[in-house]
Order: sequence, then C-alpha cells, then structure tokens
Amino acid sequence: MKKKVLAALLSVAMVATLLAGCGSKEAPAEAPAETEAPAETEEPADAEEPAETEAPAASGDFADKKVGVCIYQFSDNFMTLFRTELENYLISLGFAKENITIQDGQNDQGTQSNQIDAFINDKVDVLIINPVNSSSAETITDKVVGAGIPLVYINREPDESEEQRWADNNWDVTYVGCDARQSGTMQGEMIVDLGLEKVDLNGDGKVQYIMIEGDPENVDAKYRTEFSVKALTDAGWEVEQLDDQVGNWDQVKAQELVSNALGQHGEKIEVVFCNNDAMALGALQAIDTAGRKVGEDIFLVGVDALSEALENVINGTMTGTVFNDHISQSHSAADAAVNYLTGAGNEHYIGCDYVKVTTENAQEVLDSVK
Ligand code: GAL
Repeated sequence: MKKKVLAALLSVAMVATLLAGCGSKEAPAEAPAETEAPAETEEPADAEEPAETEAPAASGDFADKKVGVCIYQFSDNFMTLFRTELENYLISLGFAKENITIQDGQNDQGTQSNQIDAFINDKVDVLIINPVNSSSAETITDKVVGAGIPLVYINREPDESEEQRWADNNWDVTYVGCDARQSGTMQGEMIVDLGLEKVDLNGDGKVQYIMIEGDPENVDAKYRTEFSVKALTDAGWEVEQLDDQVGNWDQVKAQELVSNALGQHGEKIEVVFCNNDAMALGALQAIDTAGRKVGEDIFLVGVDALSEALENVINGTMTGTVFNDHISQSHSAADAAVNYLTGAGNEHYIGCDYVKVTTENAQEVLDSVK
C-alpha cells in the first residue's frame, strides 16, 4: 500500500525532476529517461520484477537463509527508519526473523570489521552493509567476496573506482542508494523558488547562509554541501557563506553549532542549510531560542523527511526538506539480496530518486511514511 502511494508521489516527483533538469547518477545535469516510479529504475531490463509483487511465491524459500546486516550506527535517526523497514520487508519476503542479524557498528570501523568477520565465520548467505567508512569498502569487498558471500552496500556509497572493480570482476556486489547531488540541488532549489526578494532579507543583493554538514567522510555530506549552494549560484544568485561546521548528522551538535552561529552573525544569517533533518531539528531549536521565525526572518532546509521535520514543514517552521526514501531503498536492498540468492543477479548500482518536500506535499509524504 505504502509503496503505491510512494510510487504515485515519486511519479509526480519525476515529472518535477524532468522539468527541473535534475539528474541521475550518470548525468546529473540531464533528465532521466524513465517515466515510471524510479525506485527500481536501474534494474536490468530482463530482470524479474523484484520480489515485492511476488512475496507469496517467495515466502518460505528464504526461511533458512541467513542475512547479516551491518549498520554504521544505530543511534542515527534515518538509519533507524531504514533498518526497521529492511527487517520488516525481509520478513514479508519469507526470511525468518531469527535468521536476520543486524549489528550496530557504533560509528567505529574496527567494530564493524569484527562484525563482518563474525558474519563470515557464521557463513551467512548474504550481507547488507552500511559502511562506517566508505573508504574501507575495498577491504570489506575483498573479504566478503573472498568468502563467496554476495554483498549489498547501502546508504554510504563507495567511490567510483571501487564500484568499477565489482563490474570488472563480475562480482556479486552492488550499491543501493540515491545520488546525494540531487538532494543538495533540491534543497537549493526550494530556496530559489521562494524568490531572491524574499530570501535576501537585508537587501544587500546576496544570500548569507550557514552550512551544517554531516560526517565529512560521507559523500552525502560532501555533495549536499556543494550542490545546495550551487543551485543558488546556478540561478544567478550571489552567496556569502558565514559559517560551515560539521554536525555529524546529530541534532544536539547542530543545535549547539547553530546557536553559536546565530550568536556570532545574528540577523545576517538568512538561510540555514543542514545536510539532514536531525540537524535541521537542532537548528530549529536554536532558531527558536534566538527568537527568530522560519519563513519570516530566516529560512531552513534539511534532508530525509523525518516525521518531525515533515510536521515542521506543514506548520511552516521549516522551509522544506527532501524525502530520502528509506522505504524504497530498503526494499531495493532486500530485493537485491533476493536476486543474488536466486541467481538472478543485479546491476552494480541500484539508484532511487529524492523528492522535494514543501508545504504543498509534506502532508502527503507524511501520510505515506506513517
Ligand atoms: C544520509 C542521511 C543522514 C544519515 C546518513 C548516514 O543519507 O540523510 O541522515 O542517516 O545518511 O550515512
């Protein structure tokens, strides 16, 4: 059900994407060719429909298959939504709950590497890994492929040369995720859509902003930081960065950083860009404490579409967010695992699209994720 609503929303988003000229991984500046809901767009044309529509037929087939899942950090809000949906969906496909083991890497690559070793010793049938450090992907891949276990990376994309190795060696390794450039572009576009007159509160012809970044080792943080601002300059706007700080995806940290920035730069700050919603929620607390009002004397955007952020968008206390579709991504990851187990195989990159969320569609997105 949820999936249908999302597919409809995403179709609308795709049209918006086509109009806006946002892009797919290969050609960020160009419109994707597909017109359908994008969640499974990168499957090989001859691949079977993923198991979702075939759940009853697949049921039981996987009951004895062991799935190992490594999450970089359980306390991350977005990854909590992701892993919960992943587990539920795997169960709906016929995997047994007791054969799905999900480990918390506690944001420590050493800890996660030990967990991967343990999964290999335990002879799991497939591994789904959200790496602590994407730069460790090469070592992880070698280990897992060496043990003959298919591997689905999620959320933190390994670099291009690593993905190329999977293709060159024809390994059962893939990545499921969205292109973070698109989310950054959408954040910037939501600000541009307000019009320079509205955003340039002090009327100096420039937009003064602060940037609160996620973990800098993560491409999501890197690209969102770069492409959000690029959307403003692409629109011909002049920008001035007043501050750029690392909030590590964390609400409390972001609250502290934004509170300091507001103390230092005060009314000069017109826009607060946060690489994710958890940090935007922290920013909002700081904005409230400083007696500022989003939509009136400051603008605030995040990414993820956490329920709390969606409620803020509905109430006008956040300018906008970008839906990071944990449902479609977790389903695609589980479907990819199934495709390895059945021998159908996968492409080495399985993409999805982000969706812009403003007051116009925030309620609809909230209803679809509830
Ligand atoms: C991003 C997400 C962040 C955080 C991060 C972890 O895609 O927007 O909130 O969860 O992944 O890698």
